[in-house]
Amino acid sequence: MNILFMGPPGAGKGTQAAEIVNEFRIPHISTGDAFRLAVSQGTPMGQKAKVFMDKGELVPDEITIGIVRERLSHDDCKSGFLLDGFPRTIAQAEALDALLEQSGRRIDHVINLAVDLDLLLERIVGRRVCKSCGATYHVQFNPPAKADVCDKCGGELYQRPDDTEEKVGTRLNEYATKTAPLLEYYRNKDLLRDVNGDQPISAVTAEICSLLRGQA
Ligand code: AP5
Ligand code: ZN
Repeated sequence: MNILFMGPPGAGKGTQAAEIVNEFRIPHISTGDAFRLAVSQGTPMGQKAKVFMDKGELVPDEITIGIVRERLSHDDCKSGFLLDGFPRTIAQAEALDALLEQSGRRIDHVINLAVDLDLLLERIVGRRVCKSCGATYHVQFNPPAKADVCDKCGGELYQRPDDTEEKVGTRLNEYATKTAPLLEYYRNKDLLRDVNGDQPISAVTAEICSLLRGQA
């Protein structure tokens, strides 16, 4: 099954993706995670991406499409994948369509996590991420058992540098101007499924699972 997760910053894409890839046994491809890894490793691509990420802006299409093209060519993606945070522009969506068509694949589901914009800031500034395994927490909505320690691996939790109030404004603006038009793009292809992301995490997971299994 080939799945895309769409939604504004902080909608819960990463949180839900972790559950869904476990349930459906498919690889989780997050362009945000790929960029953060490249930044932490100091690769040339990471250095280029960092300039944009630090401002809360989208990384240019040619860099982003290159990463996804390379990742989707791996054997573990042949029987399915979950793309989280890609595509984010019409050019990325068109490139993805062309890429999949070349290899005889297609998108099966586009899940749009809908959350009221007012809730996003609170979610983003309260987010904490594990340095070791990448698990995501929230100081209020999904706290770890022990403050700043990952329940899953004991790793240290940190706050992403783009999770500040100031950068969230730019990220939301980027979403509204460049990414939101994609909802129409996928609605026109009859692929888009809206999920209410303003429910407890487990309820959102259950709704997505039902949709993917064709029960909703
Ligand atoms: P990326 O890492 O993709 O960030 P994002 O889209 O801004 O999404 P987030 O990671 O902020 O949110 P999320 O929806 O995954 O929410 P989460 O599950 O963590 O991208 C970062 C940057 O990389 C971009 O700004 C850009 O520069 C670059 N980039 C990436 N992809 C790109 C692309 N395709 N093109 C160009 N540039 C690209 O949840 C948020 C918080 O809420 C957490 O604390 C969580 O615990 C909590 N939470 C989750 N669900 C719930 C719930 N149901 N109730 C209460 N709290 C909840
Ligand atoms: Zn961890």
